[in-house]
Amino acid sequence: MDIFLDSADLKELEQVADWGICDGVTTNPSLIAKQGQDFKEIVGQIAQKIDGPISAEVVSEDATGMLKEAEVLAELHPNIVIKLPLTPDGLKCCKILSGRGIRTNVTLCFQPLQALLAAKVGATFISPFIGRIDDLSTDGMQLIRDIRQIYTNYGFKTRILAASIRHPKHVLEAALAGADVVTAPFAVIKRLYNHPLTDQGLEKFLADWKQSGQSSIV
Ligand code: E4P
Repeated sequence: MDIFLDSADLKELEQVADWGICDGVTTNPSLIAKQGQDFKEIVGQIAQKIDGPISAEVVSEDATGMLKEAEVLAELHPNIVIKLPLTPDGLKCCKILSGRGIRTNVTLCFQPLQALLAAKVGATFISPFIGRIDDLSTDGMQLIRDIRQIYTNYGFKTRILAASIRHPKHVLEAALAGADVVTAPFAVIKRLYNHPLTDQGLEKFLADWKQSGQSSIV
C-alpha cells in the first residue's frame, strides 16, 4: 500500500521525504489556502521535493473551466495528478483527461456508486473520504470495502485512495480492506511509528549495552 502525505506544508513534506516512506502527496483548495502562497508555486515546490504523484485540484465547476485549469496544472510537472470533484462535469472532464493520458484523482467520494462512475471514466485514483463519513456516525471504512468489491468484480484499474484519515486505526483498517493508497496528515503518519513497547525495549537494550562495558561498534 502506498502512503501519501495529505498536506501542502513544505516542512512536513521534507520530513516525510527524509523518512523515506512518502510515495506521493494530495492537496486540496483548503490545504493550499492554509499556506497563504500562490497555488502553482506551491505545487511546483512540492514536485521538487517528492518524487511521486501529486494531486492538484481544479476549482472551476464546469467541465470547460476544469479542463482549462487541468491543462495549466498538468504543464507544471509530469508528476501532477489532476484532482476533480465527483460531479457530472468533474467526471466528464475526467474522461477527456484519461483519453489524453493525463492522470486524475476523483475526489469527494461518499458512496460506492460514485466510485463505479469514476472508474468508468478512467479515473487513475478515487478518493473516498472516510473520516467525514465517520463524523456522521456511519462506518466510513465500509465504503472502502464496497469499492474494493466492485472494482474486483469488474476488473477496474482505478486505484482506491483512502482519504480524510484521522488516526492510525483508519490506516490499519484501510490496509486490511485493500485500499491501494492511504493519504494521511503529517500528525497521523508520525504516529504510525509509535508503540510504547518499542520505546521501553530500546531503553532496556541500550541500558544493558552500557552495562556490558563493550566498546563502541564503529
Ligand atoms: C483528500 O484528498 C483530502 O485532501 C483530505 O483527505 C480531506 O480530509 P479532511 O476530511 O480531513 O479535510
